Amino acid sequence: QAADIKVVVNADQPGPVIHRNIYGQFAEHLGTGIYEGMWVGPESKIPNVRGWRKDVVAALKDLHVPLVRWPGGCFADEYHWREGIGPRAQRPVKVNTTWGGVAENNAVGTHEFFDLAEQLGAETYVNGNLGTGSPQEMAEWLEYMTADGNSTLAQLRRKNGHAKPFRVHYFAVGNESWGCGGNMRPEYYVDLYRQAATFLKTPQNNRPVFIASGGHDARTDWTETLAKGLKGVPFDAISHHGYTLPTGKWETKGAAVGFGEDQWISTLAHTQTIDAWVRKNTAVLDQHDPKKRVGFYFDEWGSWYDPEPGSNPGFLVQRNTLRDALLAALHFHVFHANAERVKMTNVAQMVNVLQAMILTSKDKLALTPTYHAFKLYVPFQDATSLPASIENNPVYLVGKTEMPSLSVTAGRAKDGKLYVGLVNANATQAAELALQVGANAAKAVKGQLLTAGAMDAQNELGKPAQVVPVPFEAQAVGGKLTLKLPAKSIVVVAVEG
Ligand code: AHR
Repeated sequence: QAADIKVVVNADQPGPVIHRNIYGQFAEHLGTGIYEGMWVGPESKIPNVRGWRKDVVAALKDLHVPLVRWPGGCFADEYHWREGIGPRAQRPVKVNTTWGGVAENNAVGTHEFFDLAEQLGAETYVNGNLGTGSPQEMAEWLEYMTADGNSTLAQLRRKNGHAKPFRVHYFAVGNESWGCGGNMRPEYYVDLYRQAATFLKTPQNNRPVFIASGGHDARTDWTETLAKGLKGVPFDAISHHGYTLPTGKWETKGAAVGFGEDQWISTLAHTQTIDAWVRKNTAVLDQHDPKKRVGFYFDEWGSWYDPEPGSNPGFLVQRNTLRDALLAALHFHVFHANAERVKMTNVAQMVNVLQAMILTSKDKLALTPTYHAFKLYVPFQDATSLPASIENNPVYLVGKTEMPSLSVTAGRAKDGKLYVGLVNANATQAAELALQVGANAAKAVKGQLLTAGAMDAQNELGKPAQVVPVPFEAQAVGGKLTLKLPAKSIVVVAVEG
C-alpha cells in the first residue's frame, strides 16, 4: 500500500518575493505573432485601439501581463529602429530573413510597441541590436526613447507623436549572441558589450535594467564569462534561454498533438531539469556577485514542437494542449523556487508563436491551455514565496523516464491570502494528499482545477474549448484536509486556516 502523501507549507518562513515579471511575455516580429495576431492596423474591420486588437488586449489584460519583451529574439539583431518610426506608409519594407522570408513593413515600431505596453499596463523590455547594429545606433535609440531635452532625437520623437519620453524598464544588448545574434564566443561578446554599454546613457530617472546575452542550457560558461568580464560597465542581469523539446532533438522535436505517454513524460521531466540549469548558473553567479545584485532572467522559455503541418516552418506555429499548461505550471514552480535571482522571465511567445497564450485566425480567437495556467497563477505575482515540501511523493515512471508525480509551490499573496499551486504530472493516476500549514491541517481550500480527458486536449479556434478551469474546493474532516488531484492536472487554491 502506498504511503500517505503529505504537503506541508511553512507559512512562518517567508522567502524572497516572486517578482511579477516572472510572468512576463515575449512578442517578436515572427510569423503572425505581432502582425495579424495582435496588430491589425487602425483601418481594420477587426475592432482595435490604434491598430491593436481589442479582444487580444482584453484577454491579455486579464492575465495581468506585467512586462512585454520586443522586438526579438533573433529578429532584434537585424532590427534597425529608425525604419520603424514616422508615417507608416513611408517606412521601408524589408525581408524578415530570420523568420519565413516574408515582408516586414515596419508598421509596428517603437511608438506602436510602447502604445501596446500602455494599453496592457505592462513594463517594457526593448532588445537592442548588437548583431548588425552598432553602439551608436543603440545609444541613439535609447536617446530617442528617453531624452527629455531639446536634442534633435527628442524633438523627432515629439514630432512623431510622443511628447514625453517613453519609460524603458529593461534594455538588452543583443540576443542569443552565441547563435543567431552573431555566433560569438562569450569572451568576444564581453568585449563588444563593454564597448556598447559605455555609450548607453539615459537620464537617471529613466535608466533601464541593462541585460547581457547569456547561455541556453545547463552549461555555465556564458554566465561565468559575463560575471567576470562585465565589471565597471552598466550590467544588471543575464538573459538565459531554455526551451523544452519532447525528444530533446532540434531536427525532430516531437509533435504538438497526437503524442504518446512517452513524450508526455519526456516533455515534463525535461522541464523539471531546468531547475538544475538555474541553480548551477546562479551558483556560479554567487561566486562573482555574492551580494546578488545581478539578476538571472530566463527571458525565453516554453515548449517547441515540430511545426504545424502545412504551416510556414519559419512561423513556429504549434498547437497548445493540456501538456503545455502543465509545462507552464512546472516552470512557474522552478522560477518561484529561484526567485532570489530569477526576477524576470518571458514565455515564448505571446500570440500564435510557439507556446502561445492566444491563437487567432482572422477575427477569431482561442485562449490556449497555457493561457489558463497563467491565469490560475496570477495571485503569485509579487507574492512572498513560502517553503513547501511533499512527503512520499510518488514516482511517475514511463519506460525508462521517471519524475516525481507531484510538484508544489506556495506564497503569501498581496491580498494577504496563502496560495498553494499543485501539479499532478502523472497522466493516468490521480493523487490524494493531505495539506498542512506547519504542523496543522489546513481548514479549507478554494480555487480552481485545470485538467481534461486527453493529454493533448486543446482549445481550437471556432470549436468548444476542451481545457478550461473549473472550481475546486475541499474542507477538513476530522482534523485532516485531503485534496484529490485528478491525473494530469493543475490546482491552485487559497488556503484557510
Ligand atoms: O522564440 C523564438 C526564437 O528562439 C527567438 O527568436 C530566439 O531568441 C530563440 O532561439
